[in-house]
Amino acid sequence: MSIDIDKNGISAHTETEPVLHIEGLSVDFITDHGWTRVVDEIDLSTPAGSIVGVVGESGSGKTVTSLAAMGLLPAATSRVTGSIRVAGRELVGLTDRELADVRGTEVSMIFQEPRRSLDPAFSVGSQIAEVVRRHDRVGRKAAWARAVEMLDAVGIDNAAIRARAYPHEFSGGMCQRVMLAIAMVCKPKLLIADEPTTALDVTVQSQMLDLMREVQQQFDVSILFITHDLGVVAQMCDSVNVMYAGQVIESASVRDLFLSPQHPYTQGLLDAIPDHRDRSAPLKAIPGAVPAPWDWSQSCRFAPRCPHTRPECESGTIPLASNASSESVRAVRCVRANDLLLEGITG
Ligand SMILES: Nc1ncnc2c1ncn2[C@@H]1O[C@H](COP(=O)(O)OP(=O)(O)O)[C@@H](O)[C@H]1O
Ligand SMILES: [Mg+2]
Repeated sequence: MSIDIDKNGISAHTETEPVLHIEGLSVDFITDHGWTRVVDEIDLSTPAGSIVGVVGESGSGKTVTSLAAMGLLPAATSRVTGSIRVAGRELVGLTDRELADVRGTEVSMIFQEPRRSLDPAFSVGSQIAEVVRRHDRVGRKAAWARAVEMLDAVGIDNAAIRARAYPHEFSGGMCQRVMLAIAMVCKPKLLIADEPTTALDVTVQSQMLDLMREVQQQFDVSILFITHDLGVVAQMCDSVNVMYAGQVIESASVRDLFLSPQHPYTQGLLDAIPDHRDRSAPLKAIPGAVPAPWDWSQSCRFAPRCPHTRPECESGTIPLASNASSESVRAVRCVRANDLLLEGITG
């Protein structure tokens, strides 16, 4: 057991405490339909040194979950309840100032659109150096040297010269590398990557994924990796949480999830992965779409799209049931999971 003492008091955490530990996280927004829940009682854990995936179709609540973990949701229009601990420190209830302190030093984030997060008016080197100076008391020269070092670490050639260039002089892939440099320069314990390669073309995407793996090793950072693409999860992650309509509906090690998906939605996502060996094979998209948050039912939210729905699926809350017999932790939110396994439909 180690004890952390900081200005907010004493918090104890063990070496085995996950870097990110989310329990019962819900987020409500004020919308035209009144207060509306868009993230509903999420549990999520990122052990030290691991890459944990969050996957699901657009609108399932992935970005809102990650913004909550960064303390970036607008207080006036959103309500966050539950617990978000980063390296043992509770973030829910911190002031904006305290949260700003945590960002960069404990947790950083990269987004889908790197260009939007970079300021076109400043060189990339000065944007990285500014982050260094915000967190550490170092002079301009030392901050600039750290910026160049970071650009080199994320694979920018001639970093000392390129540091003076402006964002418009970089390609999309290079801008994402710069964002990664900004995110990593203060050596956070947790990196949240929200669809970091979705806007990149395929070859650049795979270079970026390789780079993120290297960075994870080199900086010993844990990564929460958000994507709508199970193919990317297979390449990157150790374990994965599948989200649907604001809930985690299945979580498992990547190996277990791919070998034996237990939720029909996960099965549907797997069937929808294009087969690169057989390009003539038809894509099997899941029919329908994620319902809007104000239409979420209290029973199974996937039932209207599920090929295996029975009356019991739509007549009560469905718990996320842990599968105690499995060696690694896995859980599924489907009352028919066991029937479907027995019938050989999933798994
Ligand atoms: N600021 C907001 N106000 C109201 N609703 C929002 C806001 N941000 C996101 N939502 C809603 O929350 C749901 C989840 O969104 P999001 O987390 O962006 O999904 P994902 O990242 O999985 O595509 C969506 O229905 C979205 O419209
Ligand atoms: Mg998103």
